[in-house]
Amino acid sequence: MSGPDKAAAIAARKNSGAPVTMLTAYDYPAARLFDEAGIDALLVGDSLGMVVLGYPDTTHVTLEQMIHHVAAVARAKPRALVIGDLSIGTYPDPATAVANARKLVAAGAEAVKLEGGLRQADKVRAIVHAGIPVCGHLGMLPQRVLEEGGYKKKGKTPEQSADLLEGALALVDAGVFAIVLESVIPATAAWLTSQLPVPTIGIGCGEHTCDGEVAVATDLLGSYPWFVPPFAKPEANLAPQIRDAAKAYIQRVSAKAPSPQTPNPAPE
Ligand code: KIV
Repeated sequence: MSGPDKAAAIAARKNSGAPVTMLTAYDYPAARLFDEAGIDALLVGDSLGMVVLGYPDTTHVTLEQMIHHVAAVARAKPRALVIGDLSIGTYPDPATAVANARKLVAAGAEAVKLEGGLRQADKVRAIVHAGIPVCGHLGMLPQRVLEEGGYKKKGKTPEQSADLLEGALALVDAGVFAIVLESVIPATAAWLTSQLPVPTIGIGCGEHTCDGEVAVATDLLGSYPWFVPPFAKPEANLAPQIRDAAKAYIQRVSAKAPSPQTPNPAPE
């Protein structure tokens, strides 16, 4: 299936009773394993900056880094839709947004995601017009974490909720096939979901409030123990297993040094 067909199939899941499943992936093995498990979409998110590259937030991620990891995920040739995040500063105007979205597509992305509502509508429209499906992202916008002074819950007041709806409708009008809602309080996320004609994909929005969910892979796998968001629901606890495997290896290798008096097995 082509990228636009996969995105259209996800859009068609609205009101189907079949929630959309999305996981982040940043490399070939994770993409292959998640795809073999049957995930609907793989998001090469700019959370890459935090959970893979060791930066404090996503504001350090470059388009070159995104391209590198999109290409790794795409090499898995997943059946799932591969979505690449446009990193901070890469969509300042419609022409630049289209040029950079095309670079992610050249690396193997089948759709792109960008953050923001009303102020991004013209960029979304231009990218969609170029034939590239776009996923929106509203609520807490990690690329704005420094301006906002932290990760805050959104949609807590009627004004905030109305702004979110206005932004979401602008994105829908511009052609998004789905919208990620991040850290929107459950009541508002459920209300937005009921108002929008495209699937909402929630993270940190409570359970059963959106048409689907996205999780950061390391939160799901328990492989990044130094920061676990309060809403994360790990299904594995890999960090101790990784440490234990490394310890077992260190013990095995250090247990016995080679003998300094080993004879030459093939004397001349
Ligand atoms: O970058 C990312 O992983 C994301 C998810 C949190 C939705 O945008």
